[in-house]
Amino acid sequence: MIYQGNAITVAKNGEGIARLTFDLRDESVNKLSRAVIEELGEAVKALQGESGLQGLVIDSAKDVFIVGADITEFHGVFEKDEAYLVEMNQRVHAIFNAIEDLPFPTVTAINGIALGGGCEVALTTDYRVMADSARLGLPETKLGILPGWGGCVRLPRLIGADNAIEWIAGGTENKAEAALKMGAVDAVVPGDQLEAAALDLLARAASGELDYRARRAEKTSPLKLGPIEQMMAFETAKGYVAGKAGPHYPAPVESIKVIQKGAGESRERAQAIEAKAFAKLAKTDVCFNLVGLFLNDQLVKKKAGKYAKQVAPIQQAAVLGAGIMGGGIAYQSASKGTPILMKDIKEEALELGLKEARKLFAKQVERKKLTTEQMAEKLSHIRPTLSYGDFGHVDLVVEAVVENPRVKEAVLTELEDQVDEKTILTSNTSTISIDRLAQNLKRPENFCGMHFFNPVHRMPLVEVIRGEKSSDAAVAATVAYARAMGKTPIVVNDCPGFLVNRVLFPYFGGFSLLMEQGADFQRVDKLMEKFGWPMGPAYLLDVVGMDTAVHAGEVMAEGFPERMGSLGGGGDKSAIQLMFEKDRLGQKNAKGFYAYEEDKKGKPRKVVDEEAIALVQQVVKESRELSDEEIIARMMVPLCLETVRCLEDGIVGSAAEADMALIYGIGFPPFRGGALRYIDALGVAEFVAQAERLAEELGPLYAPTETLRRMAADGTRFYA
Ligand SMILES: NC(=O)c1ccc[n+]([C@@H]2O[C@H](COP(=O)([O-])OP(=O)(O)OC[C@H]3O[C@@H](n4cnc5c(N)ncnc54)[C@H](O)[C@@H]3O)[C@@H](O)[C@H]2O)c1
Repeated sequence: MIYQGNAITVAKNGEGIARLTFDLRDESVNKLSRAVIEELGEAVKALQGESGLQGLVIDSAKDVFIVGADITEFHGVFEKDEAYLVEMNQRVHAIFNAIEDLPFPTVTAINGIALGGGCEVALTTDYRVMADSARLGLPETKLGILPGWGGCVRLPRLIGADNAIEWIAGGTENKAEAALKMGAVDAVVPGDQLEAAALDLLARAASGELDYRARRAEKTSPLKLGPIEQMMAFETAKGYVAGKAGPHYPAPVESIKVIQKGAGESRERAQAIEAKAFAKLAKTDVCFNLVGLFLNDQLVKKKAGKYAKQVAPIQQAAVLGAGIMGGGIAYQSASKGTPILMKDIKEEALELGLKEARKLFAKQVERKKLTTEQMAEKLSHIRPTLSYGDFGHVDLVVEAVVENPRVKEAVLTELEDQVDEKTILTSNTSTISIDRLAQNLKRPENFCGMHFFNPVHRMPLVEVIRGEKSSDAAVAATVAYARAMGKTPIVVNDCPGFLVNRVLFPYFGGFSLLMEQGADFQRVDKLMEKFGWPMGPAYLLDVVGMDTAVHAGEVMAEGFPERMGSLGGGGDKSAIQLMFEKDRLGQKNAKGFYAYEEDKKGKPRKVVDEEAIALVQQVVKESRELSDEEIIARMMVPLCLETVRCLEDGIVGSAAEADMALIYGIGFPPFRGGALRYIDALGVAEFVAQAERLAEELGPLYAPTETLRRMAADGTRFYA
């Protein structure tokens, strides 16, 4: 034994081959925490001090190779100043360079996931062999930083600047064949032959068949690129990546600049450039929020995992209603491998639902994600039916018929008689209380809400709504099914609008008040899009549909009359209600706040509509000059306040879940981390002051809660 630590052991075999194995004690995966990096430094020192070594294999004793740095340490570390962060990365560079400079050939055996720092460890050795099921990549830019342990330096030297830009700026996880094709690894073999392949490479290097020194020289010298190639690789990429990432995500473009600046430099100088850029990005709010997002996502997934473990997987599902939502649910279930019965009362509806599913599968075939045989196989998992014939063998049913409480109640009671006693029933209702729908059921404990978002195949969130009588088993089965469908389930308690719509409608309320004060809705849309929303509120209302918005608004007004009363149409007509009255329903009938034309691909494209602009003028009570900041505050404050209320009322279990639900459910700007993270970033006291100012003029929709006032007074935050 050459070295033994908590995460790393180094041993030597009879032929003088050292083996450095990552196996982090008491953890299911290997990650590079600060402590593990310390150990790596000690292990490398031990290797340097050992005589008679002929080669080194770096490998892992776990299913993964190394998942990356320990992201739970990031917030604490990134708080330090830039100089500290530069120094910290330089220390890691020294360790990694020492591996690269060992006086014998080296190889990494990548048995499983090797991401971020894990990939960067693999890049230090002369060779890499990879199991066919493993993944290799540098996803750092997705966290608002860039690879800081030599990835921006070694990868372009290994696979060329253009390929490296694709990996680093795109943050892609790459399959073994792709890695081999680009030259990131030297061989791909089945997992059980990995060790033999690694030893074989070392033997060939020792015999002189492979020139490992030349390999090493190439990886440690400046990149060989002519001025034209430079231009092509870097300038074109910067333009393209900037366009794709958008103005709120600087890391991808920064990573290209780092590769470019370091291209003509020695290893050490290029690493110094990388360290400086890393430190700068690590200090940004965007990075802080994206790291927070990652941690929240982990928490949400862990919670869902715990639920799912309590129940057997859903083997057979069913959906009632083959409409927009039912069709989407059937597609998603079949696509991810859970067979599903799709029942409707109309033959045409079934045909339409199937047609939609076929279209989505065909797109996958077009993109080469599926073969035509796989498509046929998956399509056969959707069984359309007009009867309850096979419902006796169904584990879980999603009711997705028309949004009418009486119809839903009738359908659910009828359904209950057709299924097994253990079958879980769920409803995809967006506005009807789960407790109300449970009232007439014989087995209300087997029932809960399962709220999907439109379009089902694209929206990652599923709200699982626990009614008063829902059992843990019902909730767990629903969570398990959502996970099996590739969705992120978040469990919430029953209330009008559940979590996401309860938070969204106050935002629309803020929008309606702005319209009354003469704000231009196109300006509001542009501002909110610049703020980071995928679409502004007027455009979003067109997508949701004015009929749906008016109906849901009434439900919200009834549920929370004191602050959302105006959403219900009791007082003066809002712009939304007026649109609805004039049959301007939005995208569905090609006119709302905007008009819609079909583009070449048959997709709706929005265009300015003077008629809509004139119509909105009718609701103006008094025209006011409003600054950009004021407009943003008037939109954001009600949404944020309602999120706070949902947390206070126990509708959602934690700040992390609330924020993730908004990001996954309505596209809250991810780089801002969610509504509660946004309040933290503004400062709770500043937010409360802003809300109080607005409440004075605009009423209770803007009034902060008592708890929030208290938080402002004693300086507490939503995230520690
Ligand atoms: N469309 C959305 O954006 C959206 C989003 C989330 C949730 N939802 C909810 O999903 C549900 C369905 O909405 P949709 O937009 O798909 O509606 P839709 O009108 O497109 O589809 C409803 C389908 O239900 C069928 N149906 C009616 N009675 C039935 C019965 N007794 N048995 C079987 N099928 C029956 C109809 O024939 C129709 O095909 C509603 O509760 C809605 O609130 C909709």
